[in-house]
Amino acid sequence: MELPAVSTSMALLFFYSVLLIVSFVAAQDPSFINIPASVNVTENSPIHTEVAQFGIVTADPNPKVEIVSVVPATNAFNLVFDKSLSTASITLAATLDFETQPWYTITVYVEDYNLTSVTNISANILVRVLDVNEPPQCEPQLVSPGVTVQVREDISPGTSIYVVLASDPDHNSVLQYNVSDALPSGSANRFRFLNPSPSLLNIGSFNYQKGDTNFIVSVVVEDQFGLKCTGTVHVEILPVKNTLLNFTFPVQNVTIKENIGPDIYVTKVTASSGTNLRYHLVTPSVSFWIDQGSGIIRTGMHLDVDKTPSLTYTMLLVRVYSADSSGTSGTATVNVFVLDVNDNFPVCDPPSFLVEVKETEPIGTVLTTLKCSDADITNNTLSYEIVPDGNSLDKFRLTGNNLEINDTLDYDSEEIARANFQYKASIIVTDSGVPPLSISIPIQVGVYPVNEFKPTFPGPFFFDVLENRAAHTVIGSVNGQDRDWEFNNLHYSIIGGNIPPVFYIDMKSGTIHLLGSLDFEMKRSYELNIQVVDIDQDRDPDPLKQNTVNQLFTVQVQDENDNPPVCNPPFHETTIYSTLSARDPVLTVTCTDGDINFVHTFRISGGNENNRFTMNGNQLMSRNTFSYNPAGVMDPLTFDLSIQVSDGVFITSVKVIVHVVPWTTTSPTTTTPLVTRSIKTVTVLQGYWEPEPWFVAILTISVALAIGTTALLIWKILQCTSLSNSSPPEMTAPLVQQG
Ligand SMILES: *[C@@H]1O[C@H](CO)[C@@H](O)[C@H](O)[C@H]1NC(C)=O
Ligand SMILES: *[C@@H]1O[C@H](CO)[C@@H](O)[C@H](O)[C@H]1NC(C)=O
Ligand SMILES: *[C@@H]1O[C@H](CO)[C@@H](O)[C@H](O)[C@H]1NC(C)=O
Ligand SMILES: *[C@@H]1O[C@H](CO)[C@@H](O)[C@H](O)[C@H]1NC(C)=O
Repeated sequence: MELPAVSTSMALLFFYSVLLIVSFVAAQDPSFINIPASVNVTENSPIHTEVAQFGIVTADPNPKVEIVSVVPATNAFNLVFDKSLSTASITLAATLDFETQPWYTITVYVEDYNLTSVTNISANILVRVLDVNEPPQCEPQLVSPGVTVQVREDISPGTSIYVVLASDPDHNSVLQYNVSDALPSGSANRFRFLNPSPSLLNIGSFNYQKGDTNFIVSVVVEDQFGLKCTGTVHVEILPVKNTLLNFTFPVQNVTIKENIGPDIYVTKVTASSGTNLRYHLVTPSVSFWIDQGSGIIRTGMHLDVDKTPSLTYTMLLVRVYSADSSGTSGTATVNVFVLDVNDNFPVCDPPSFLVEVKETEPIGTVLTTLKCSDADITNNTLSYEIVPDGNSLDKFRLTGNNLEINDTLDYDSEEIARANFQYKASIIVTDSGVPPLSISIPIQVGVYPVNEFKPTFPGPFFFDVLENRAAHTVIGSVNGQDRDWEFNNLHYSIIGGNIPPVFYIDMKSGTIHLLGSLDFEMKRSYELNIQVVDIDQDRDPDPLKQNTVNQLFTVQVQDENDNPPVCNPPFHETTIYSTLSARDPVLTVTCTDGDINFVHTFRISGGNENNRFTMNGNQLMSRNTFSYNPAGVMDPLTFDLSIQVSDGVFITSVKVIVHVVPWTTTSPTTTTPLVTRSIKTVTVLQGYWEPEPWFVAILTISVALAIGTTALLIWKILQCTSLSNSSPPEMTAPLVQQG
């Protein structure tokens, strides 16, 4: 060390200083005595070490002495001035470091006062810091108490097990690392450094089982000058459980279905060896759990892949370990695939469908667009099918998801009226799962009416009506038709041809009635203009939407026998000879009739005694069989005949007086007085009965028999009379007129 040398030179310096002070004490100006231009100080010198000492000459008893600057700046130097000795000394206030700053320049300043003026002086001192070699520095933890490292027993040889941290304050120091010793004894050669690397390496491997459990390694770090630091590394060897347990199947793929419930068996893992085994899942899962004793894996819950698609695949790592002290373990992989099951029905929006459209809504109109989905993640494509009922057959179609009108939705039919004007169908929506699941969407499409059709009249357009019918007699119905539902809902009116009113029409039924009787003879036909309007054929009754149709109908009045024959004259009187030929008419009855068409029949209804007259048409004929035998048949000389004239309904009687002039060739007297008779006309309005031909025949036979019987009876009586009167019998022979 050089500290003794410094002390020696300081003592010498002190000696000279005292000498100088004594020599120049009388000097007036301040001045330095023996101030060094430079001094040397070794680095790391302790505090208070004196760096320089010198004398100061001044007359001032209290001069100012100080360090005014240090370059480079530092507080490492102190100046102390001893007044009694007039010496100043500079000491260290801090240790100096060569490696940090190898020199300093100190400027010393002195100032004094001699009653008249101030004077000063300054001087520089160069301080050289002298380098000294310093020992390396090990990290404190390494030095005491030492560091601990843990290494696996299976660490490879030559692995760095610890890096020593050491440094040297000196520049250009080269540090050497060495293992100086190790415990247990004899193990020092199992560790080494490969200089200049500070890594502590292991030589060879460790065997925990064989007692390689702990080592205490002493480490020394040394610089090239032999300075050193030391430390301790505690090496703890960790045993490695390298005995593997194997699984019967180290990798398993298992497939289960979704939603089979919690705690359902998935699979079982088994180690192929080992005792007292325990299983657990390395990857914790809420979806699966393992029975730690048996290795059976079960579901942890309902696994719904539709809700949680990630459940489709799960990789489970299973660890098995031996619960005894062998410390063996192993892992297996179980890949669980969860299959989708078709367990969701299709869902549609809307779930049912109700709408109302007009009956003329065009084909192709979109009634609704179905929005359906299936919550299953697979096989979720949907198909649609319309199932119609009887009314809705072919009425709807699906174009994609659009429900469209496929055929006119007619309002005007009995069937749809019974169905309350609703077309009903179902749409069956089916998914593509196995087995498929379907839902049915009820469709109800109500229709409301539109007045589409005009009323029509099918005809015939004429009616025949008999004259003389009573008021309100129905003469016919115009039978208007309308194809809008409600069918034929019409209102009728007569708008022409009925002035003055002769007819009226039933507004609802269209039947035409008589207001009063008609007279063919007055007017033979009428042209009625009938108007028909359809009613309630639109949803919103709107008169402007009604259809009006006019049609002419002809009413033809039929003639009827409604007038009695009228005979003119109604009374005849004539005279004939009894010999009038049966071929010449006695007279002709002349009759007319108020009816246009008539047929008159003529019949003698009274006064035709002995049936001496007959009718030939309207001619009264004599049979030329008069008898004027006083002893026999005695015809009247005057016949008072009634002739009935019938037109089939009515009968008119005509009186005819015929005077007969018997047996003479002379002209009948014209003096025969005319007997004036009152005319008697019987009119039978009803109840005229025209017998059937067979009846007439029977009647004729009956009458003939009756007449014959009567004649026989009369003849018998006359015979008896003649017997009593002894008069000769006489034949009632026809009187034949001679010539
Ligand atoms: C003081 O110092 C000045 C200059 O050095 C000198 O001229 C003067 O005489 C001195 N005075 C005394 C009283 O010594
Ligand atoms: C486990 O299998 C490995 C190789 O697959 C084999 O080396 C080892 O011996 C087996 N362990 C047992 C305990 O069977
Ligand atoms: C649509 O109408 C046509 C006839 O116009 C018919 O052939 C077809 O089947 C109908 N479509 C449906 C889906 O009813
Ligand atoms: C999906 O369809 C396939 C093929 O038809 C079938 O094998 C499978 O079972 C179906 N899956 C479901 C969930 O319906």
